[in-house]
Amino acid sequence: MESAADPAKAGGAGRAAAPSGGAASPGQYCIEVSNLVKLYGDVRAVDGIDLRIRRGEVFAFLGPNGAGKTTTVEMIETIRTPTSGTIRLKGMDVGKRIDDVKKMIGVLPQEFSSFDNLRVRETLEFYASLYATRRSVDELVRLMDLGEHSRKLYKNLSGGLKQRVGIAVALVNDPEIVFLDEPTTGLDPAARREVWRVIAGLKLEGKTVFLTTHYMEEAEELADHVAIINHGKIIAEGTVDELIERHGSGLTLIIHGAQGGLDDFFKEHGLRPAECKDDLCLKIKDKDELLRVLQELKDHDIRFKEFNVRRSNLEEVFLRLTGEKLAVGEPR
Ligand SMILES: Nc1ncnc2c1ncn2[C@@H]1O[C@H](COP(=O)(O)OP(=O)(O)OP(=O)(O)O)[C@@H](O)[C@H]1O
Ligand SMILES: [Mg+2]
Repeated sequence: MESAADPAKAGGAGRAAAPSGGAASPGQYCIEVSNLVKLYGDVRAVDGIDLRIRRGEVFAFLGPNGAGKTTTVEMIETIRTPTSGTIRLKGMDVGKRIDDVKKMIGVLPQEFSSFDNLRVRETLEFYASLYATRRSVDELVRLMDLGEHSRKLYKNLSGGLKQRVGIAVALVNDPEIVFLDEPTTGLDPAARREVWRVIAGLKLEGKTVFLTTHYMEEAEELADHVAIINHGKIIAEGTVDELIERHGSGLTLIIHGAQGGLDDFFKEHGLRPAECKDDLCLKIKDKDELLRVLQELKDHDIRFKEFNVRRSNLEEVFLRLTGEKLAVGEPR
């Protein structure tokens, strides 16, 4: 994704290069959202957002509960009608080309459910029958590892398996753009990683994936670009590395089991202890400063049990930007 407000960044650095490389022309964006608004009475669920997502990228949309993620996604999918603003998929105005849009998108809604009394295979066959272009049901069963469950009734599946069926249904028309609204919520860690593998595979096939998630490590693992929405507004966007660089607290040196005298040492050396629970934490600018501090601790014969170094991560950035409380002991 590129900030619509910052055309200079179009085609800029990211973990994944633009498919065609170089600066992007407007037509290169697969999804373009401009000044999108959705009001529910007095509630500004989506409050004037801009998004630009390139073809072939995995875009992660993050935000606290009620931030406006599902409302946004479902407006792009043509399921909800915007109050104002424009949405283009591959240059098409979605409000005017609903039938064309439906052919090229696949959707896993946040609360996917299907027919209780259809078997898994029958479910996929049913959805596939609705489209002229479709992926083979055998392939979908294989892709989502549903082989041993394909004869089970939907209603008898575990929550995780239902979710896997939902993802298979989203892919049934072999869509160019796939919207997954919290695809791994409720999955066990192994099943979650299986879904990550599928998403990474979709990217390799050149598909564009719009992923909504509450799992920061999922975004770190998969996303080329990330946007964070809060109270209906985009509050940050960029690659994971850019967000951590811009909004994180950098490196923190944590010293465990120090034997007194450290406060004086810090003062003497102009170092800033960070708020920390039991241990002593120091904000460190970069690797060189880290090495210097460790050397000075040694030179001053300051004893401690052990140390470790923590780098900011997306979770810290997310909590900081959305105003959620950090856990005690987290660097500020
Ligand atoms: N159909 C609706 N009618 C009225 N208000 C709604 C409707 N759908 C959503 N809202 C409100 O709009 C806001 C955004 O909701 P939305 O479901 O888009 O959030 P979300 O970011 O997807 O949250 P979550 O992480 O919990 O799924 C919330 O205040 C919600 O209560
Ligand atoms: Mg939602």
